[in-house]
Amino acid sequence: MRLLVTGCCGFIGSNFVRMMLDKHPGIAITNLDKLTYAGNPANLSDFDDDPRYEFIHGDICDEAAVEEAFARTPDAVINFAAETHVDRSIDTPATFLDTDVKGTCTLLEAVRARGIRYLQISTDEVYGSIEEGSFDEESRLAPASPYSASKAAADLLVLAYVTTYGVEALISRSSNNFGPRQYPEKLMPLFITNLLTGGKVPVYGDGLNVRDWIYVEDNCEALEAILMRGEPGGIYNVGAGNERTNMEITRLLLRAAGRGEDAIEFVKDRPGHDRRYSIESRKVRDLGWEPRHDFEAALERTFSWYADNRDWWEPIKSGEFKEYYLARYGDV
Ligand code: NAD
Ligand code: DAU
Repeated sequence: MRLLVTGCCGFIGSNFVRMMLDKHPGIAITNLDKLTYAGNPANLSDFDDDPRYEFIHGDICDEAAVEEAFARTPDAVINFAAETHVDRSIDTPATFLDTDVKGTCTLLEAVRARGIRYLQISTDEVYGSIEEGSFDEESRLAPASPYSASKAAADLLVLAYVTTYGVEALISRSSNNFGPRQYPEKLMPLFITNLLTGGKVPVYGDGLNVRDWIYVEDNCEALEAILMRGEPGGIYNVGAGNERTNMEITRLLLRAAGRGEDAIEFVKDRPGHDRRYSIESRKVRDLGWEPRHDFEAALERTFSWYADNRDWWEPIKSGEFKEYYLARYGDV
C-alpha cells in the first residue's frame, strides 16, 4: 500500500508514520508538510534513508504541491495537516481557515478526481462543551473557538464530498492526545518542560476544565483501524475514557517532577474556554480497536521521554517560541 499523509512532521502524524513503517514492511509513505512552526523534520529524521519514506515540503493549500504529491499515485490519503492550537486561533483565526478549511478542500478535489480513500483527522472539539454525559457521532456540532469552527467546517465539507461526489471519505474525531514529540505549546509538554527547567506552570482559570486524554499510540492504532476497516462516509470518535481536570493533570506532573504546588501559577482564562469534553467511542471499538495503554503509566513514560530528550525541545523553547511564551504568559 502507498499512503499519502499530510502534516506528518507534527505530533500525531509523526507518531502515525513511525508506527506504520514499523508495522508494515511493504508500505510506502509520502509526507506532504509545510513545516510551519509546529512542523519539525527531526520528528522523522531517523527514516531519512528509508526508501519507503519520502518527504515533500509543501502546503496543502497549494494545488501544484498537492498535484506533485498525488503524482506518487497513493492508494489512500490521510490529512493530519492543520493549524492546531486553540490559543493561536483566538489570535489569528484566518490562518486556521486557510489550512484547516481551504487546505482540506484542495485535498478533496485531488481525491475526487482519483476515487481513492480519504481519512480526515478531525477532533472532539467540534462538538463543543458538555456538562454531563458524552457526545456520540450523531451529536450536534457546536464549536466554540476559531480552531474548532474551522475543523467543523472541514468535516462538513468532507461529508458534502461524500454525498455529492461519492468520495470514499471517513472522519476521525479524537480527544486530547499526549505523548512524545508534541509541540510544547500544549498543556502536557508545556508543563513538563517548564517543570524540567525549574519553572512554573500556568493553569488557566480555576483549573477545573476537563479533557478526555488518549495516549498518542492508541489514537494511531485507532486511525489505522478506521482507514482499513471503516465504512465510507463514517465518522468515528476516538477516546480512551481518561477524563481528568487540568488540576488533576497538573498534580500528576508535579509528582513526576518532584515539585510542590508552589509551582502552580493561576493565570487569566482562555476566552470561550470549553468546560468539559467527553466522547463515547463505541463505533471505533466495533472495528476491533481498544486503547492498550494505562493512563498514568503512559503519562509517566511521557514525562520521562521529555526528560530524556532535551535535545528535542530545548532548541524549540529557546527559539521563536520564547517570544510567543512571553507575549502569552509574561514572566510565569
Ligand atoms: P501539530 O500542530 O503537531 O502538527 C501539524 C503539522 O501540520 C505540522 O507538521 C505542520 O507543519 C503541518 N501543517 C500545518 N499547516 C500546513 C499546511 N498548510 N500544509 C501542509 N502542512 C501543514 O498537530 P497535531 O497535534 O499532530 O494534530 C494533527 C491533526 O490531529 C490535526 O488535524 C488536529 O486538528 C488533529 N487533532 C489533534 C489532537 C491533539 O490532541 N493534538 C486531537 C484531536 C485531533
Ligand atoms: O480535544 C482535542 C484537541 O485537544 C485538539 O483538537 C487540539 O488540536 C489540541 O490542541 C487540544 O486542544 P485543547 O485546547 O484541549 O489543548 P491544550 O493543550 O491547549 O489545553 C488543554 C487544557 O489545558 C485546556 O483546558 C486549556 C488548559 N491549559 C492549556 C495551556 C496551553 C492551561 O490551563 N494552561 C496552558 O498554558
